[in-house]
This record gives sequence, structure tokens and C-alpha cells, in this order.
Amino acid sequence: MNIIVVNGPNLNLLGEREPNIYGTESLEELMLWLEKSPTGSGHSFKFFQSNHEGEIIDFIQDERQWANGIIINPAAFTHYSYAIRDAISSVNISTVEVHLSDILSREEFRQLSVIKPVCLAQISGMGKQSYIEGLKLLIENK
Ligand code: DQA
Repeated sequence: MNIIVVNGPNLNLLGEREPNIYGTESLEELMLWLEKSPTGSGHSFKFFQSNHEGEIIDFIQDERQWANGIIINPAAFTHYSYAIRDAISSVNISTVEVHLSDILSREEFRQLSVIKPVCLAQISGMGKQSYIEGLKLLIENK
């Protein structure tokens, strides 16, 4: 598969950002681990991180001909970005929403995802393994 992996705001600071919640590995380490994992083998990846909503939308649109799967950790945009939700439903590519932390057991505002309804599934609370589980789901549903 051709998979885009999109990470939203503040995930560029993984490793130093609240390590008790998000772990000590950098985003780059995490993405490399995903790509080199046995599950990733034989698939092509493009990685993108942005702190800006519009840039995330532009990337999804720009890659719509290449990609046939999307793994997205929309970070805080999860909870309120109708624009990213619309971008996902506009391109009609199988998408999985992933989170490092368990968003359902944290603050109340994190419990709503406006992205989830346009995704195959939401996977949360498994740390970096959430990305692998997301990848497995995309492959299964290919
Ligand atoms: C997050 C959870 C979000 O609520 C938060 O805003 C993030 C990270 C996660 O991966 O656990 O930035 O998406």
C-alpha cells in the first residue's frame, strides 16, 4: 500500500513534550520504527507533521492520487477540526485515527473526536503501538 502518516500539532515535540504521557521517543524515531516494522514491510510511506490545520489539509489533498491509506494522529485537531474531517471524507481514502494516549480516560474535551466518524476506526492508548494497529487495520481492509 501507499500510506501517508499525518501527525498534527505539537507532535513534533515528542520525546520532550509531557514524556509521562507521550513517551520519550522523538517523532522521527517513532516514524522510522513504524516504517521498519515487520507490518510496514512491503509498503510505501510518506510522513508529514504540521502545527497548522491548512497545511495538513493541503498535504492530504496533494497526496490523494498517490495514497491508498491514511494513518492520522490529528492531535488537538481531533477534537474540533471539521475542516480536517471534511478533507478526509473528500479524498475517499481509507483512514485510521490513532492516538498515543488514551483520550477516553483523560480530560472531558478529549473524549469527542470529530474525525472518528470518517475513519475505519479510532485506536488510542497503546503508545506507539497505536500506529502499528492502525497500519494493520488499513492492510486488512485494503
Ligand atoms: C493525542 C491526544 C490529543 O488529545 C492531544 O491533543 C495530542 C496528542 C495523542 O496522541 O494522545 O496532542 O492525539
